Amino acid sequence: MREKLEQIGRMAREEIAALAQNKESRAEALEAVRVKFLGKKGEITSVLRGMGALSAEERPVIGQLANEVRSEVEKLIDKTKKEIENAELEYKLRAEEIDVTMPGKHSEAGRLHPITQVLNEMTDIFVGLGFQVVDGPEVEYDLYNFEKLNIPKNHPARDTQDTFYINENIVLRTQTSPVQVRVMEKTRPPIRIVSPGRVYRSDAVDATHSPLFHQMEGLVVDKGVTMTDLKGTLELFAKKLYGENARIKLRPHHFNFTEPSAEVDLCCFNCGGKGCRICKGEGWIEILGAGMVHPKVLKGCGIDPEVYSGFAFGMGIERVVMGRFSVNDLRLFYENDVRFLKQF
Ligand code: PHE
Repeated sequence: MREKLEQIGRMAREEIAALAQNKESRAEALEAVRVKFLGKKGEITSVLRGMGALSAEERPVIGQLANEVRSEVEKLIDKTKKEIENAELEYKLRAEEIDVTMPGKHSEAGRLHPITQVLNEMTDIFVGLGFQVVDGPEVEYDLYNFEKLNIPKNHPARDTQDTFYINENIVLRTQTSPVQVRVMEKTRPPIRIVSPGRVYRSDAVDATHSPLFHQMEGLVVDKGVTMTDLKGTLELFAKKLYGENARIKLRPHHFNFTEPSAEVDLCCFNCGGKGCRICKGEGWIEILGAGMVHPKVLKGCGIDPEVYSGFAFGMGIERVVMGRFSVNDLRLFYENDVRFLKQF
């Protein structure tokens, strides 16, 4: 029995030592060894069961030896278990290690399109003056795009705006002015709005023409609004956008939906009025159309022109953007070549 116990001790040591070779599932293999030697049906237990057959002198001696072997095996298993756990933790830490010297993942940040940037800036100026920003549909009724703006069918004024017709009654809006009508039909004065957005005209594409472009409409209706208010507002706007030295002038013009009407010119920001390439030698650059809202238009929207008056203006955005960024070909804004867009 003594030999048997010593043999058990040796075997246990060997098997535990052999575990080191076994890279995977060492924890399970160790548990199997524990069961084999220390379990209820294990080797040492079976030796202890046979102790009854021993003499009274032998029993304590063998009993002590059995305890020694058991505690040795137990200690060895505990120690190995710790080693395995440490090794696994080490492995895990290594696997999850972050190499801070590796190059980071670079994500390109997008940016606002130059037209959007300028449009936002222009809108902000008017918001600062107490205007509200409203939106209107790009697919619009002929009724709003022309008729209610005092441009009846067959009127020559329609010829200046080559129109995309969806059908006889529906068009792609050629101007943002229909928003004036939509607002005046729904709201009572005082009205103070701007409405930026896309407009469409059937123009051939070249450096200064595009079938899609942008406008910003403005409308003010209240008691006692005069042409002076229009001029003052636009002058202030020009100074905010182009700097304190900016100057504008009003030139008589004709629009069906305003009376009187004017075109507004900006003193060339490049040459200061002397005449240069940008202003084509004129010294002035036309920036917008404007005027006092026609009494017929007010009446058509249910606003009494005897009580209320108003002014309206509509400006093209592209020209402002081209001036701001010194871009001389409109097409660049719509090709969306990132090499171009990245510059703004
Ligand atoms: N809608 C006109 C255009 O596109 C501009 C305009 C707007 C003129 C408002 C007067 C008043 O040419």
